[in-house]
Parts: sequence; structure tokens; C-alpha cells
Amino acid sequence: MSARPAIAIVGGGLMGAGIALVFAAAGYRVALYDAVEAARAAALPRIRDNLVGLGLDPGFAGAISVHDHLPDAVADADFVFEAAPENLALKQALFAAIEVAAKPDAILASNTSVIPITAIMAQLHDKTRALGTHWWNPPYLVPLVEVIRTEDNATAAVAAMMTLLTDVGKTAVEVKKDIPGFIGNRLQHALWREAIALVAEGVCDAKTVDDVVKSSFGPRLAVLGPLENADLVGTDLTRAIHDYLLPALDRATTPSPYLDRLIDAGRLGFKSGIGFQTWTPEQQAQLRARVTQHLMASFGAPLVKRD
Ligand SMILES: NC(=O)c1ccc[n+]([C@@H]2O[C@H](COP(=O)([O-])OP(=O)(O)OC[C@H]3O[C@@H](n4cnc5c(N)ncnc54)[C@H](O)[C@@H]3O)[C@@H](O)[C@H]2O)c1
Repeated sequence: MSARPAIAIVGGGLMGAGIALVFAAAGYRVALYDAVEAARAAALPRIRDNLVGLGLDPGFAGAISVHDHLPDAVADADFVFEAAPENLALKQALFAAIEVAAKPDAILASNTSVIPITAIMAQLHDKTRALGTHWWNPPYLVPLVEVIRTEDNATAAVAAMMTLLTDVGKTAVEVKKDIPGFIGNRLQHALWREAIALVAEGVCDAKTVDDVVKSSFGPRLAVLGPLENADLVGTDLTRAIHDYLLPALDRATTPSPYLDRLIDAGRLGFKSGIGFQTWTPEQQAQLRARVTQHLMASFGAPLVKRD
């Protein structure tokens, strides 16, 4: 048996299965629980397919056991990752059950995208071991995991999680305040708000927005972060630009009416074949493949460790 900590995953969909893959490839035992029979049946085939796609041995999925009873999955775990649907009441109920079934010193983490961790963990008796771990999709290719501190969690729990994530090759960063969207999604959606506003105001069409990003600061961002860039051009120049520009940027605090109009017209994106732009099934497949190839080329396959 491996001396590495035991991992449990609650919710074995897109993110849960991907997180399970990361730990299994790195030589950890993983117990995965899902409430839905079809999801349980799909989890291991999906993980094997993804391992093959990454050029890895599909046999690594052998480290993952799938469970239909939550206590069986979490009872022996040292770390529990919840990746169930984005619903506060559901997550609260799951953590109540996890707290009862897990070892008293197990560290409990939610993979919520935007719900404050403090709200999800509000009803726990011991909040010191509860935190957020925001993985990015696909978890086995995107290196970042944001580890979210709350006013209740213990420094030791955060440190143990950072160590675990680093051991499986992730880039773990600490988010020191439990704020909506943490760091990455706040930055990302600040850009999306302005992108939508540019289209809504008729400055350009959606393809032009994406062309501008992909042909300019998008690729550069991979090696030059925004604050490195501010230092590069000078904080004084940055201030001068902000003097003119910030008053002109979109500052809406509610979703854009343009988005509502798309949704009302059934323009939901890939799932309806049209959103900001039209998407044939071939175009959708090509874009997905391009993203995977780019992430593979940038970051490589997940870390593989064997005893
Ligand atoms: N999809 C993303 O890009 C992404 C990125 C970061 C974080 N997240 C977050 O990760 C979480 C999971 O998202 P996802 O995209 O994997 O969703 P998903 O729908 O693919 O997976 C959710 C899984 O939870 C299962 N489930 C439903 N009810 C359950 C219950 N009571 N107990 C256990 N499992 C249950 C479902 O059967 C499904 O397999 C969400 O909180 C989401 O916001 C998603």
C-alpha cells in the first residue's frame, strides 16, 4: 500500500474525474463517490480515455475506486475534494455528511468556482480543516490550483494542502481572503465584461474581440503577467493610462443585457450551435482540440510518479 495520503473525491463529473486522474497518475490512492449511477459508470472510462489522450498508461486508473455510498469513499481519506454541482445547499449538505464520515484530521476542500468557502462550510463543527481548492479545467493540464483561506481555517491545513498539490505537480497559490471568484476568475471576468461591452456598444464584432486578444496581449500574458507588465512600462505610465482609460471602461455590476438577449434568442453557444458566433460541430471539435494541444504543448502531461 502506498504511504502517500489517501484521496477522496465527492462528485465524479468533469472536474472530479480530472482531479482523480491527477492523483492517480502521481501514485495516490483515490476513492471517488458520485450520487448518480450514470456518472459512476462513466467516471473510469472517461479517466482512461483522458489518460490515453495524454499519452499515459490507462492502467493508472486502477488506483481509483468508485463508490455509491459517500462514507465508504471518505472514511479513510486524508484529503477530501468536493466537486459536486455548483449549488450552496447541496454542498453544505455534502460537507455535513463528509464531516461525520471522514477522519477527524482529514482536510476537506470544495472546488466551487464562485461560492464563498465560508458559506459552504458554515455549518461544520470544525471549520479549521475546511478550505477551498479551485482547480481549472481540465485539471490534468492547467497547472493552477487556488487554495482559499477563510477566517476559520488553520494555517496548518492550508500548508498541508499546498504541499499535497505541489507534490502532484500543480502550481498552488494561496488566496488570502475568501472573496467571490478568488483571483483567476475575477481577472478573467473583468476582461469578459469589457469584451461583451465592446460588442454590445458596436465597437467591433465578437470575432474581432477574440482576434485582438489572441494576436496581442493574450500570448504575451503567458510570459508577462499584468503587474510585471505594469513594472515594465512603469507604474507612472500605468497611472497616466488609467487616468484617461478607467472612466471609459464598463463598470456594470449586473450581467450585460446583451447576454440576456443572446440567451432569450436561444443563442447559448456551443450547446445550441450559436452564441456570440455560430459553431458547427466540426468547428467546436477543432477549437476543443486546439485548446488541448496548446495546453499540452505549454504544460505537458500531468506528473507521473510510481513507488
Ligand atoms: N467545469 C469547470 O470548468 C469548473 C472549473 C472549476 C471549478 N468548477 C466547479 O467544480 C464543481 C463541479 O463542476 P463540474 O464541471 O465537474 O460539474 P459536473 O456536472 O461535470 O460534475 C458534477 C458531478 O457531481 C455529481 N453529483 C450530483 N449530485 C451529487 C451529490 N449529491 N453527491 C455527489 N455527487 C453528485 C454529478 O452526478 C456529476 O457527476 C462545481 O462546483 C463547479 O463550479 C468547475
